[in-house]
Amino acid sequence: MKELVLGIESSCDETAASVVEGGRRILSNIVASQVPLHRRYGGVVPEIASRRHVELILPVIDTALQEAGVQPEQLDAIAVTRGPGLIGSLLVGLSAAKALAFVTGKPLVGVNHIEAHIYANFLAHPDLHPPLICLTVSGGHTDLLYMPEPGTYTILGRTRDDAAGEAFDKVGRVMGLPYPAGPEIDRLSTHGDPAAVALPRGLTEGLDFSFSGLKTAAINAWHNAKQRGEEISREDFAASLQEAIVDVLVDKTMRAADQSGVSTIIISGGVAANRRLRQRLGESAAKAGYRFFYPPADLCTDNAAMVASAGYFRWQRGAVDSLSLNADASLRLS
Ligand code: KG4
Ligand code: ZN
Repeated sequence: MKELVLGIESSCDETAASVVEGGRRILSNIVASQVPLHRRYGGVVPEIASRRHVELILPVIDTALQEAGVQPEQLDAIAVTRGPGLIGSLLVGLSAAKALAFVTGKPLVGVNHIEAHIYANFLAHPDLHPPLICLTVSGGHTDLLYMPEPGTYTILGRTRDDAAGEAFDKVGRVMGLPYPAGPEIDRLSTHGDPAAVALPRGLTEGLDFSFSGLKTAAINAWHNAKQRGEEISREDFAASLQEAIVDVLVDKTMRAADQSGVSTIIISGGVAANRRLRQRLGESAAKAGYRFFYPPADLCTDNAAMVASAGYFRWQRGAVDSLSLNADASLRLS
């Protein structure tokens, strides 16, 4: 049997644990989602999230070990998300990981959540290797990264305000869609006209992103139409919003790839589950001769298998943390 790594994830509203063998083979992948708990508030409430993590973390770890048929003593390392994320939430997973590392004497590996999202692709695609360009798009992040080799990252662009997922979620909330609205907008859009509502494409220059102007314009367009008593098709509105977001993501990712001279493009994070983004970027990448990869939908959103995988490769490169490791809510990838 290859090396076994337990991954633990609690940076936002999913409490998750997973055992991964050799960095690539998932033996168990348990995700306890808190989404229904936060839904009535229209977003994640940090205090509620950390309290729920405390309740769930030990049962989730137990289940992950049991499903994998692995005893704690058989683990080779314990990987945990140490940032970025909600500090109260991060501390729950980190404390559990440290306690387990202490009692078992196994090495502790702190993992950056964004790096973990990237590794969801390495779990899904054994023939994937850097150099590559990665677009990481989630509820909290929109980062365009150059990865020349494992463990090395250069940030080429990032959002200056809202994340792409936030734009989906906040506009969706005004449309009366349940949190998180991204998957619902994806679904509605398949029956809508992406050219029905004229919406702006924010910050077309450079490789940074800006979605707050689009978010405000979309919310205003929705309210104005309602005030005029116009009937707006939710499908058309969803498709137009999605197209405005996807247009910018595809354009900048392709430009980043052209500038860096790589031959591989990957996407990761919750918004990488979006079907239109996969389709549009897949078409552009194929036309320009790039290899294009994305993780299966359940590995796009927050999970601990990606943490175990990223942790495994960090550990293989000799990165082990002490038990004094702290969480860092605004941890950067470098
Ligand atoms: O990676 P993730 O689970 O959590 C963060 O690290 O933020 O991403 C959650 C985000 C939410 O904003 C959600 O609306 C979005 O990913 N999302 C989607 C889709 N599935 C999830 N956005 C667009 N289309 C989807 N199919
Ligand atoms: Zn995430």
